[in-house]
Amino acid sequence: MVPTTSVRRFDEQFARQVREGDLRLNPFEAAALPYLSGRVLDYGCGLGNLAVAAARRGCTVVALDASAEAVGHLRRVAAELALPIEAEQADLRTYAIRGEFDSVVAIGLLMFFDRPTAVAQLEQLQSHLRPGGHAVVNVLVEGTTWLEMLDPSAHCLFGRGELARRFHGWTIVLNEASEYPASGDTIKSFETIVARKPGRRERPPAPDAGPQDRA
Ligand SMILES: C[S@@+](CC[C@H](N)C(=O)[O-])C[C@H]1O[C@@H](n2cnc3c(N)ncnc32)[C@H](O)[C@@H]1O
Repeated sequence: MVPTTSVRRFDEQFARQVREGDLRLNPFEAAALPYLSGRVLDYGCGLGNLAVAAARRGCTVVALDASAEAVGHLRRVAAELALPIEAEQADLRTYAIRGEFDSVVAIGLLMFFDRPTAVAQLEQLQSHLRPGGHAVVNVLVEGTTWLEMLDPSAHCLFGRGELARRFHGWTIVLNEASEYPASGDTIKSFETIVARKPGRRERPPAPDAGPQDRA
């Protein structure tokens, strides 16, 4: 893909973080971790610190991001630590998700898409989550004045409370608003949701089950 201006800036930021060994979970990733299990999709994984933490706890992770720097770093770490992480570079504005997941995560991603794309990708994430699985989504909301990394003609600030409304009918496990000061005396206003999809989680087949038991 041709990197967008924001992805080029993330490439620079990630290269600096790797050089400086700054690989901590951010607060949203730390909040997400306890809800991740089984097969995890991390959509817009950045450096993949959450993917690594989840894989260390026994998850298998598909981690996707447009940043070549981030994906290259995550692949090296996964190989060194022999962790079950599949890291791929992808433009998630147009990505078609394949398969089903026990947990889906999109932290700090959807604001970089225009509104119809952000909503369509959120719906795609919801539809590829298994019943009983957890979605963890973090977005910027209206009131945010930090716009320097966002394309003026193609970004999305969700309405306040909109994220929760878009998970209507799901069990809302966590719904949190938070504000952080940003450069140039601006503000980042976030909403983070953890929601459980309705329906019962199917038990995985027992390891010794025959093919007829797996159907
Ligand atoms: C704020 S960072 C969040 C990264 C990670 N989820 C975290 O919490 O640290 C936003 C991420 O979105 C990625 N991104 C932005 N536009 C993208 C696109 N069109 N396709 C895929 N990833 C994109 C950036 O490369 C960056 O890694």
